[in-house]
Amino acid sequence: MMPPDWRPPTLTTPRLVLRPFCAADAEPLFEHAKNPHVTRFTLWDAHKTVAETMVFVHDYALARYREGVPEPFAITVPPDPRPIGSVGCFWVSKPHATMELGYWLAEPFWGRGYTAEACRAVLSHTFEECLPERIQARVIDGNTASARVLAKLGFTFEGTLRRSLLRRGQFDDVCYFSVLRDEWPGLIN
Ligand SMILES: CC(C)(COP(=O)(O)OP(=O)(O)OC[C@H]1O[C@@H](n2cnc3c(N)ncnc32)[C@H](O)[C@@H]1OP(=O)(O)O)[C@@H](O)C(=O)NCCC(=O)NCCS
Repeated sequence: MMPPDWRPPTLTTPRLVLRPFCAADAEPLFEHAKNPHVTRFTLWDAHKTVAETMVFVHDYALARYREGVPEPFAITVPPDPRPIGSVGCFWVSKPHATMELGYWLAEPFWGRGYTAEACRAVLSHTFEECLPERIQARVIDGNTASARVLAKLGFTFEGTLRRSLLRRGQFDDVCYFSVLRDEWPGLIN
């Protein structure tokens, strides 16, 4: 357990600022989290109320920060401080040093390379701070844009777990990708 006020650091990229979430993010993030285009291939459903977004930016985020896990990060485009998405790596298995990358971005900002840019900074930070051996990503089959993001980041496609996810009343095929510690550029340990 970390002190209650521990937060992940703010990461900056050429175009973005990635920072910890706070309760004030619920209202602006809800405007994007309620969009069903955003949730077409996500495990979570489009938010129906701002209270659902508050659970994410406050309850979920504070629980991770309390554990010292540097996720989720709010994606922002300076100088606007409002969040336009979320990115971060969480533990799948600490004994096996495996983490998982997750991300989503508000629809008006798609197609500018923002997600790949944000993920690069988060992956570097996570490899350095959490020392995972493997960071995996799961993509529901058909989410071509997300698979492309992972290809741009240098992830390897490992295979498809057919009909392994029951989501919204149907079984989806889930594609697994990963990047290993010694494949990530620029690490010294
Ligand atoms: C998937 C998502 C994160 C991509 O974000 P983004 O910031 O637009 O991603 P980038 O701009 O870094 O890269 C997207 C790439 O996919 C490509 N792409 C976008 N839509 C595509 C499509 N329908 N078919 C093929 N390629 C597509 C883009 O051209 C781009 O590749 P390029 O840089 O070679 O041109 C964003 O669309 C999103 O948040 N979707 C909803 C939530 C989601 O699905 N999250 C991921 C769950 S695994």
